[in-house]
Amino acid sequence: MSILSKFAPLRQTYEQLRAVGQNPFEMVFEGMLSPTEGLYQGRRTILLGTNNYLGLTFDESCIEDSIAALRLQGTGTTGSRIANGSYDGHRKLELALAEFFARKHCMVFSTGYQANLGMLSTLAGKGDYLLLDADSHASIYDGARLGHAEVVRFRHNDPEDLRKRLKRLSNEPGSKLVVVEGIYSMLGDAAPLREFAEVKREMGAWLMVDEAHSLGVLGANGRGLAEAADVEADVDFVVGTFSKSLGSVGGFCVSNLDDFDVLRVACRPYMFTASLPPAVMASTIAALRRMQESPELRTRLHENASRLYYGLSKLGFAVGPQASPIVSVALQEAGLAVQFWNHLLEGGLYLNLALPPATPTQSPLLRSSVSAVHTTAQIDRALQLFESVGRQLGVLPPSLESRRKRVAQQTVGGHAEVALVASAARG
Ligand SMILES: Cc1ncc(COP(=O)(O)O)c(C=O)c1O
Repeated sequence: MSILSKFAPLRQTYEQLRAVGQNPFEMVFEGMLSPTEGLYQGRRTILLGTNNYLGLTFDESCIEDSIAALRLQGTGTTGSRIANGSYDGHRKLELALAEFFARKHCMVFSTGYQANLGMLSTLAGKGDYLLLDADSHASIYDGARLGHAEVVRFRHNDPEDLRKRLKRLSNEPGSKLVVVEGIYSMLGDAAPLREFAEVKREMGAWLMVDEAHSLGVLGANGRGLAEAADVEADVDFVVGTFSKSLGSVGGFCVSNLDDFDVLRVACRPYMFTASLPPAVMASTIAALRRMQESPELRTRLHENASRLYYGLSKLGFAVGPQASPIVSVALQEAGLAVQFWNHLLEGGLYLNLALPPATPTQSPLLRSSVSAVHTTAQIDRALQLFESVGRQLGVLPPSLESRRKRVAQQTVGGHAEVALVASAARG
């Protein structure tokens, strides 16, 4: 028996998916024309699922700084910072992030995934407790699995449920670390952070916020939900990624906690992996600067997000609980979602297909992520495609116009019948 035979049911589902049309999990773009347009099978395709919130992947200064670092310092660091030492870029990036968040310390990781893996598994040790929102990202759950703390899940976005669970632990000596996300990646809903901060204070717990989807998106300066909710002082650890608003790759954690740097020699996902290459650090520093210089990008992002969210909602689609740059449409059933996704792609629109069990509500989702640099025409084209595919597949009722046409055809048909009967009667 093959070592892979345990994946037979997965393979079968996968094949069914492929039989419908394109494979949503193995898309290969032949080219990227801009932050919002790619070439897929020879055709220009609007990118509406790439988390490129500020559209900085083609920013001139990011590209130029990245090229300069590449020429000066080479393609890679070929080792971990612990074994091989740091480049000046690592230090500069950590200082830039610490300054941006007005925190004393920063650690940069090779991915956002590793930032969560490292921080959760190291901060909460044996005898400690990790309190995780039930809808947490896989990297948060995996960080919990890598460490030795006891994991307690609380109901999604429910501060009362968290309070109840922390109360039950109040006589336990271990540290309690609460982890929530700024904006949740599947439905685009924000955490009720003021309430969570209140519970954290009351119960003497630690609070970590993963601002992966809210950095550059929320807050007057783009520092995320903690800034927007005015509770930065209550947040002990901010985790985030460079792979969304900052348009590169990598992750970080900032904190004001004294002695934070001891984690550099305790955190395995920091210690035992190659550090970020110079070009990535240079483009990330430039993107952080561009983000701060260009608050209008955030304004434009929210305008685009509202246009898509309210547009879809007005058409009658089941969208998430609040307007945000992540706009997801829930459909009844996976087969229908796969068909819908294929029709959108045929029409020149790419977004994410998320299927249960990887979705929070167990409904299949068509997930969009809006960018500040989408044009109004691109958002409107997306709405148009959603409407026409929605009507074609019966997700939306037929349009008034097509109902009128159908009635007119029936009437014409009726007349034709009358004419036929009349001519038959005449012999
Ligand atoms: C909430 C959250 N945290 C962490 C990550 C991991 O970030 P990265 O993809 O940059 O490793 C993601 C990625 O989608 C995410 O959504």
